[in-house]
Amino acid sequence: MGELYLDKHVAYIKSLDKKKDFDAVVMEHLRMSGAYWGLTALDIMGRLGDMNVDEIVSWILMCQDDCGGFGGNHEHDPHILYTLSAVQILALFDRVDAVDADKIASYISGLQNEDGSFSGDEWGEIDTRFSYCAICCLSLLKRLDKINLEKACNFVASCKNFDGGFGCAPGGESHAGQTFCCVGALAIGGALHHVDKDLLGWWLAERQVKSGGLNGRPEKLPDVCYSWWVLASLVIMERVHWIDRKKLEQFILDCQDPECGGISDRPDDAVDVFHTFFGVAGLSLLGFPGLAAIDPAYALPVNVVDRVFYGHKKQL
Ligand code: FPP
Ligand code: ZN
Repeated sequence: MGELYLDKHVAYIKSLDKKKDFDAVVMEHLRMSGAYWGLTALDIMGRLGDMNVDEIVSWILMCQDDCGGFGGNHEHDPHILYTLSAVQILALFDRVDAVDADKIASYISGLQNEDGSFSGDEWGEIDTRFSYCAICCLSLLKRLDKINLEKACNFVASCKNFDGGFGCAPGGESHAGQTFCCVGALAIGGALHHVDKDLLGWWLAERQVKSGGLNGRPEKLPDVCYSWWVLASLVIMERVHWIDRKKLEQFILDCQDPECGGISDRPDDAVDVFHTFFGVAGLSLLGFPGLAAIDPAYALPVNVVDRVFYGHKKQL
């Protein structure tokens, strides 16, 4: 088995947070999601305990708008993408009680449209990514009853194509990222009967290319982030054995920077926190030793999801 440079990856993620005020994690406008990727990767690697929880939680609270939604950073406009990331980070730290769940739920339910779809923010762009964010976030907050869940799932189902995959809107081309969002939303929403597991499993398994990596659509290059979008969908479909797991594991390991840590999209490219998270998360889904298990629908460690829903005590 190839080597996972775990200590190097931990050091790389922490190096993104050099500034004392937790102000240096990736790009300004999507810092909330960058923080979620970095912190979840640390948790899967068993190293979340080193972080300053109070500092991170107060930064998250500063990013909340009066309407209940969260921005990508302090004083940025709220968006459903960052609202999910904020709640996911709070779940990681067992601090969901630090926010007013009803207020967040009212922001999210206000984004649901008549046809069951969700807009990402007040400007109205509609995409199945936002359906996933809404359903995942409300489920973590135990507020799924605040939306029309049946209509939400029916809209997601209406984005299914002849090949079994899903797009961003009805008629949109099948794309593995959107497919993850749709399958994850339907799994959490208890509506997986909309999915043809064999047909979708086939389309997903076809995403593996010669190098062992996975692509997002036919004819595209492999990319480590698809080790999450495709693999998580395959796990939910119970069809992971339809790909060559060892070859995928090796592809992800080949994308590591053995000196400075971090994982890139393809071997020899520059590393970033996004692909570092999805690489580590993919290895976790493959059962790589030394990594905590990650939930394929919530994209959070299984022990975190269990704690949210069953109240298990945090392991010390
Ligand atoms: C590919 O993006 C990925 C997607 C379209 C899915 C994005 C999903 C979310 C933002 C929901 C939250 C996710 C988690 C894990 C909690 P891309 O723009 O890189 O696609 P490309 O490879 O075609 O350029
Ligand atoms: Zn990528």
